[in-house]
Amino acid sequence: MSYLNRIDVISSHLNKQQDEDEEYLIDSPTGATTKKETITVTDNRTGKSYDFKIKNGTLNANLFKEVSETADDNGLMIYDPGFQNTAVVTSYITYIDGDKGILRYRGYPIEELAERSNFLEVAYLLINGNLPNKSQLDQWNNKIMTHTFLHENLVAMMKTFRYDAHPMGMVISTVAALGTFYPESNPALAGQEIFKSESVRNKQIFRIVGKLPTIAASAWRHRIGRPYNTPVNHLGYTENFLYMLDKLSEPDYKPNPVLCRALEILFILHADHELNCSTAAMRHIASSGTDPYTAVAGAAGALYGPLHGGANEAVLDMLTHIGTKENIPQFIADVKGKKKKLMGFGHRIYKNYDPRAKIIRRVAYEVFESLGKEPLIEVATELEKQALSDEYFVSRKLYPNVDFYSGLIYKAMGFPTDMFPVLFMIPRAVGWLAHWVEHLEDPETKIYRPRQVYKGEWYRNYIPIEGRPPAKVRSQDSYSSSTTKRYSKLSQ
Ligand code: ACO
Repeated sequence: MSYLNRIDVISSHLNKQQDEDEEYLIDSPTGATTKKETITVTDNRTGKSYDFKIKNGTLNANLFKEVSETADDNGLMIYDPGFQNTAVVTSYITYIDGDKGILRYRGYPIEELAERSNFLEVAYLLINGNLPNKSQLDQWNNKIMTHTFLHENLVAMMKTFRYDAHPMGMVISTVAALGTFYPESNPALAGQEIFKSESVRNKQIFRIVGKLPTIAASAWRHRIGRPYNTPVNHLGYTENFLYMLDKLSEPDYKPNPVLCRALEILFILHADHELNCSTAAMRHIASSGTDPYTAVAGAAGALYGPLHGGANEAVLDMLTHIGTKENIPQFIADVKGKKKKLMGFGHRIYKNYDPRAKIIRRVAYEVFESLGKEPLIEVATELEKQALSDEYFVSRKLYPNVDFYSGLIYKAMGFPTDMFPVLFMIPRAVGWLAHWVEHLEDPETKIYRPRQVYKGEWYRNYIPIEGRPPAKVRSQDSYSSSTTKRYSKLSQ
C-alpha cells in the first residue's frame, strides 16, 4: 500500500471514530444534552401507545409481544425473511460499515492487517481478542502447527471417496467425522459443561485450525490421484499447505514464497465477516450445544452455496461463459433483464466497494507477475468497468465483492474451481471458532429458534385412503438414472 493510500485508509477509519465519540457525548448521562432513548409505538388497531427502550440502536423484539389486539393473540412478531435487519448477538469481533466500505477485525483496519500481519497472528487476534506478543505468538503457532496430523483411520476414510468427489463435500464430511475421534470433547458423551473449560475449547481450536489444511490438501491429492502428503510442522501455515498440495518426490521442495504470501493475504481477508450466512449457521448450530466439529461442518455447508462461498467458483464459470470482451454488453443486458446474475457483485452489507476486493485486485497482479497473466482478467476488468458505469448497478449500489477477483487468483495459481470454496473455508473456520468462543461466553446466549407466520391449512380431519380425492401437489416427477432407464427398457 502506498504512503498516500495508507493515509486515506487511516483517516477514513479515524473520521468514523470521531463520529462515534460525538454520538457518545450527546448520549452521555453526564452531558449537557440528554436524549430520550425510547420510541413510542401506537397500535392503530387499539389506539394503545407503548414506550420501548432503545439500546445500542436496537429494540428488543420481545417487547412487541406486548402489542396485542386481543388478550390471547400473543402480540406482534418481527417479520424479517433472510435476517435483513435483525441483530441476534452483541459481538466484539468484526466491525463493518457497508456504506463506507470499512472492515475491521477487533478494531484493526483490514488493510493494515493484510499488509503487515500474517494469517496465524490474525487468527490469534480474532479468537483471543488482542494481538499476541512474540512469545504468545510463538506458542500459538507451535500449538497449531503441532496439531496438523490426521488419524490414519480418517485418512483411510478419505480414501474411500469417489475419484471425482467434490473436494468441498469431502472436506465437510471429513471435518464432521474428525469429531468422532475425540469423544472426550463431545458434549453428547462428555456432558454439556465441557466447553466451560478454556483448555478443552483451546484444544478443539488447535485441532480444527491445525488439521483443516491437511484435510483440504488430502482432498486435493485424492482428486488428482496422488498420495497424500504428511504435514511439515516447521513450515509456515500457508507454506505447509502448499507443500502438502504439491510435494511429489523433490527432496527439498519449497513452495513459491510469492504464492505463500498471496495465500496469507487471501486467508486474512476471508477470516471473518461478522454474521454472514455461514457464521450465522455456526452460531445457530452451536446454540444447541453441539461439538465444534459438527458445527464447523454445518457452517461449511452454508459456505458451499453459490450465493456465499461458492460465488468465486460461479464467477469463474460466468467469466468463462462470457469468454471475450465483445460479449460483455450482451451479458450485462441479460443481467439487467434478470435472465442472469453478475456473480461476484453485490453484497447484503456492502453498498460500496468491498474493501477486500480492492486488496485482492492488487494481490491478483502480484500473482500474475510471478505465474503469468490469467487471460480472463481482461474480461473481468472490462466487465467491472462496464457494470460500474451502468445505471442498473449504480442505482442498486452493486460493487465487486471479495469473490470477484479471488477466483482469478486461484485459477492463476492452478486450482480448479471446485477447490475455491475449500480455500475459503480454511480461513473462515477461524472466524467461526472466534464466534463459537464468543457464543460460549455470552450470558445472553440462547438456543436459536426463530418464529414463523403460519399460513397453512387450519384444521383437517383424516380421511382413509380409499375415500380421498387425488392430492393437489407439486409435480412428483424426478429423472431416472441411466441404469434404471436400461432396466426399464429390458423389462418392457
Ligand atoms: N447481479 C445482478 N443483480 C443483482 C445482483 C447481482 N450480482 N445482486 C443483487 N442484484 C439486484 C437484485 O436483483 C435486486 O434487484 P431489484 O431491486 O430489481 O429486485 C437488487 O439488486 C437487490 O438485491 P438483493 O437480492 O435484494 O440483495 P441481497 O442483499 O438479498 O443479496 C447477494 C446479496 C446474495 C450477495 C446478491 O448480491 C448476489 O446474489 N450476488 C451474487 C452472488 C455473490 O457474488 N455472492 C458473494 C457474496 S460475498 C460472500 O459471500 C463472501
